Amino acid sequence: MNYSIHFVFLIVCSKCIAVNINRIVVPALVELGTESVILDCDYNTGEVPGPGLVIKWFFNGSTGLVYQWIPPLQPQVIGLLKGKVDMSFKISDEPLQAYRAIRIINPGTHLSGNYTCVVSTFIAEDSQTRSMLVYSPGKSFHFDQEKKYVFLVTLKCVAEYLYPRPVLTILSKGKPLERAITDMRMDSWGMYTVETTALIHDDDVTSPWEEFVCVLNLPLANYTTNRTTVYYPGLMPTHSASIEVKKPMEHQANSSTLRLECTLLVTLFLSIYFTL
Ligand SMILES: *[C@@H]1O[C@H](CO)[C@@H](O)[C@H](O)[C@H]1NC(C)=O
Ligand SMILES: *[C@@H]1O[C@H](CO)[C@@H](O)[C@H](O)[C@H]1NC(C)=O
Ligand SMILES: *[C@@H]1O[C@H](CO)[C@@H](O)[C@H](O)[C@H]1NC(C)=O
Ligand SMILES: *[C@@H]1O[C@H](CO)[C@@H](O)[C@H](O)[C@H]1NC(C)=O
Ligand SMILES: *[C@@H]1O[C@H](CO)[C@@H](O)[C@H](O)[C@H]1NC(C)=O
Repeated sequence: MNYSIHFVFLIVCSKCIAVNINRIVVPALVELGTESVILDCDYNTGEVPGPGLVIKWFFNGSTGLVYQWIPPLQPQVIGLLKGKVDMSFKISDEPLQAYRAIRIINPGTHLSGNYTCVVSTFIAEDSQTRSMLVYSPGKSFHFDQEKKYVFLVTLKCVAEYLYPRPVLTILSKGKPLERAITDMRMDSWGMYTVETTALIHDDDVTSPWEEFVCVLNLPLANYTTNRTTVYYPGLMPTHSASIEVKKPMEHQANSSTLRLECTLLVTLFLSIYFTL
């Protein structure tokens, strides 16, 4: 064999053995509760694929092998995806393409991350990565009022079972209420519960009534929804008013009407006392 024959062989074979991923299809956003998702890795192996063709899927980097297919064998599901994959799913009838894709049944939020498809032969390799976020818009989302004191109302907005990290904002006349207090908790499954409360004084409401809006946002999931509540100033507290009515003083309210009200209360007590 002379050198030119070697050379021609190399050129021809570098074509037939090349592997090339045309397109990787991974849904960027998946709502929790979705029945199934398909991760696909569409590749070319040339006319005659080189020996040692292997299709692998990794999760969050090269140490997280989750799926491997060596045609014509059956595909294998490994680690994180074990028990989550439809083993009968075939994306193509072509023997060298059939099991390149993964159909994940009912994906959970813990499957959020980077998915990498690697197609290789003994001498060539190509890979591509896409991320998938399985988000949870929550199980319950409420915006309620707690009317314990005259002249004051507590707005309470609660959303549960969210993923990823949520942002909860109470809007008054379209602007976020800066004095609102937010409490965020994460359970052992990584799901968030968030509660935002705001104390509103009747003096803050300049119209006969005001509609407050609580906005729930999952920034990474592009998800936004809201709830509203309408407050009418001047309503009496809904329960145990006679005990609770003294408390506004603790909230440093300095309106004269509030002081007047407390004076009236004291007068009332005194008059009852002296009557007895
Ligand atoms: C996922 O991919 C993004 C963007 O490529 C990267 O910034 C991030 O570090 C990756 N995360 C992991 C866990 O590999
Ligand atoms: C995978 O990576 C994402 C960030 O890209 C991270 O939020 C997630 O916790 C990682 N998942 C696991 C199981 O390591
Ligand atoms: C979120 O929405 C913005 C604007 O509509 C868009 O550019 C971005 O790609 C979206 N992100 C995802 C993950 O879909
Ligand atoms: C609240 O949701 C409604 C309906 O989805 C939308 O029309 C409105 O703009 C939202 N309000 C705010 C303040 O985000
Ligand atoms: C307290 O009174 C001052 C002066 O009258 C007023 O500017 C301020 O807004 C009041 N604060 C509250 C919490 O009502």
